[in-house]
Amino acid sequence: MVNNVASSDGLAGKRVVVTGGTKGIGAAITARLAGAGASVVVAARSAPESLPANVHFVKADLATESGVTALAEAALAHLGGVDVVVDNAGGAELGTGTIPELSDQLWEDAYQLNLMSAVRLDRALLPGMLERGSGSIIHISSIAAQLVQPPLTHYGAAKAALNAYSKALATEVAPRGVRVNRIAPGMIWTEAVQTFAQHIQDTQGVDGKAQIVELVGGIPAGRVGTPEDIANAVAYLASDQAEWVVGAEFRIDGGSIRQVD
Ligand SMILES: NC(=O)c1ccc[n+]([C@@H]2O[C@H](COP(=O)([O-])OP(=O)(O)OC[C@H]3O[C@@H](n4cnc5c(N)ncnc54)[C@H](OP(=O)(O)O)[C@@H]3O)[C@@H](O)[C@H]2O)c1
Repeated sequence: MVNNVASSDGLAGKRVVVTGGTKGIGAAITARLAGAGASVVVAARSAPESLPANVHFVKADLATESGVTALAEAALAHLGGVDVVVDNAGGAELGTGTIPELSDQLWEDAYQLNLMSAVRLDRALLPGMLERGSGSIIHISSIAAQLVQPPLTHYGAAKAALNAYSKALATEVAPRGVRVNRIAPGMIWTEAVQTFAQHIQDTQGVDGKAQIVELVGGIPAGRVGTPEDIANAVAYLASDQAEWVVGAEFRIDGGSIRQVD
């Protein structure tokens, strides 16, 4: 359940951009923040059937430079300035065959969407934040950056690159009042993961959902994640309650990753 506490979490009135805010994790983040009184601009390639109140849709392909530029311009025009950026759009096509057989195109696409969309959007929206001396940027990464999943090697590598970029940016802009953090979700039962499960089922004839649970090493919490599990963490990182949280990674995976960092 999305937990709306508009009066106490300081999100009311915040001006927010959520990439890929129309489905899955992004839609839950959008509902959570808009429900707490934020004004939200969301972007995706296709328009959703409906949107919560206080949410403005921008059609853009964020895997392209022109798409990101169009979003940044539309967001600034609509909101007048941006306080919170949630770089959520991401994902990748599954590879087939061995790792050396992954095509250059798969690698390139994964980097454009999972890394460059964030680099470009942050670059466009940071100047206003730095000028005001405040802001929060949240990168939605993945446990795939740490976990070997052969058909998603290109995706994991792109998320690992996002992590390195996120940490470096956090260090550079923190002295000027802008906080950058990231979230690494585990297995969240969204459309993207359902497609992955179906692919496994079709190609291997086994229960795709159970196979992914096994692939992530099991889930000690006893259930797959919901988009709201991630949205609540984003709400915290976006709020002023997280004032001293800088360059952090919140791994939210029901306990799948067993290692101590
Ligand atoms: N689900 C998981 O288990 C999981 C685990 C770890 C990390 N993550 C990360 O969490 C984020 C969200 O994942 P999800 O599972 O919620 O994905 P999803 O259900 O597939 O939703 C993806 C969203 O991004 C938009 N999008 C995709 N490609 C885009 C593009 N080129 N330009 C603009 N918008 C685009 C989609 O809308 P359109 O299709 O209309 O463009 C949609 O709104 C991703 O960064 C993903 O890597 C997910």
